[in-house]
Amino acid sequence: MKIGGKPYRTIWRAEDAVRVIDQTRLPFELTEVDLNTAQDAAHAIKTMIVRGAPCIGATAAYGLALAMREDASDANLDAAAKMLNATRPTAVNLAWALNEMRGVLAPLPPAQRVNAGFKKAADIADADVAQCEAIGNHGHAIIAKLWEQKGKPKQLNILTHCNAGWLATVDWGTAIAPIYKAHDAGLPIHVWVDETRPRNQGASLTAFELGSHGVPHTVIADNTGGHLMQRGQVDMAIVGSDRTTATGDVCNKIGTYLKALAAHAHDVPFYVALPSSTIDWSMSDGMRIPIEERDAGEVTHIAGRDAAGKLTTVRIVPETSAALNVAFDVTPARYVTGLITERGVSPASRDGLLKLYPERAKDAA
Ligand code: MRU
Repeated sequence: MKIGGKPYRTIWRAEDAVRVIDQTRLPFELTEVDLNTAQDAAHAIKTMIVRGAPCIGATAAYGLALAMREDASDANLDAAAKMLNATRPTAVNLAWALNEMRGVLAPLPPAQRVNAGFKKAADIADADVAQCEAIGNHGHAIIAKLWEQKGKPKQLNILTHCNAGWLATVDWGTAIAPIYKAHDAGLPIHVWVDETRPRNQGASLTAFELGSHGVPHTVIADNTGGHLMQRGQVDMAIVGSDRTTATGDVCNKIGTYLKALAAHAHDVPFYVALPSSTIDWSMSDGMRIPIEERDAGEVTHIAGRDAAGKLTTVRIVPETSAALNVAFDVTPARYVTGLITERGVSPASRDGLLKLYPERAKDAA
């Protein structure tokens, strides 16, 4: 997608390095960071310079390619994969991308691993772009149908949580791809953007993306969605996912579950958009998904830009209060209207997913 008219991806090859957009500086500063080693890639994932499940996967893939450039031995292939896999626990795209990389690299002699690693990482990134665009097309069809069913209103209000836009993937996004497609096709989309405390990926990243693309949107405090649904001001919700089980339970950014409950109570369609790299075929119960717990400082403090234009962080909680920072939650499949994947839309169920991915029947828990 474009920033200031210039096309960007979140991650790309630049000279000898792998370059990423530093998402911790957005929306106020557009900074690019070079990753030169596997450690740089691990650091970028851990500190959330890059974040969002598919973007984490692509970064880990390039991280393994960088590791092969340092030392292409079997021992380093194992060690680097282990180090990268330990950076964040919830998004399954990370383990998926590392497995894909190892599947290509492990059988090769070390001398061939560098070129093969960068090629495979580029293939993973390109495949993500194609999958997200396909998700956009399938989701656009749902939005267009809803708009017709509602009598072609002057404004169709879509609520989203966190950032599942192009910054969270390599390009296009998952939940936001259908919104871009619908907006570009002339549908009168307006997006309610959940701020998404504690790290505010909605307020900082989704709002930045939508603004850069000219999509009308309004940032709301996380607690506002229920009220808007009760008043009929939300026509549908679309969110992304960090890991979806073979049975359609959806793990996503903390707060997603509450929005799904509110949507269910008010008959608001609640869709989840995800590429197949986000499906954990080995899991049948969302309650078993490892949930990341992050530093409490993200809850006790808030970051922003002060009146002098300086990026700053301030404390908002008493010094003596404890804080808990659970980064994700699980929405049971029964609250999900449909899963929008690159192969089409399915019910959130094992049968539904296997109709789209019959080749995974042998793996599906
Ligand atoms: O902690 P983050 O910012 O990595 O969490 C991101 C999300 O929860 C996204 O909704 C999810 O990764 C889907 S991204 C297309």
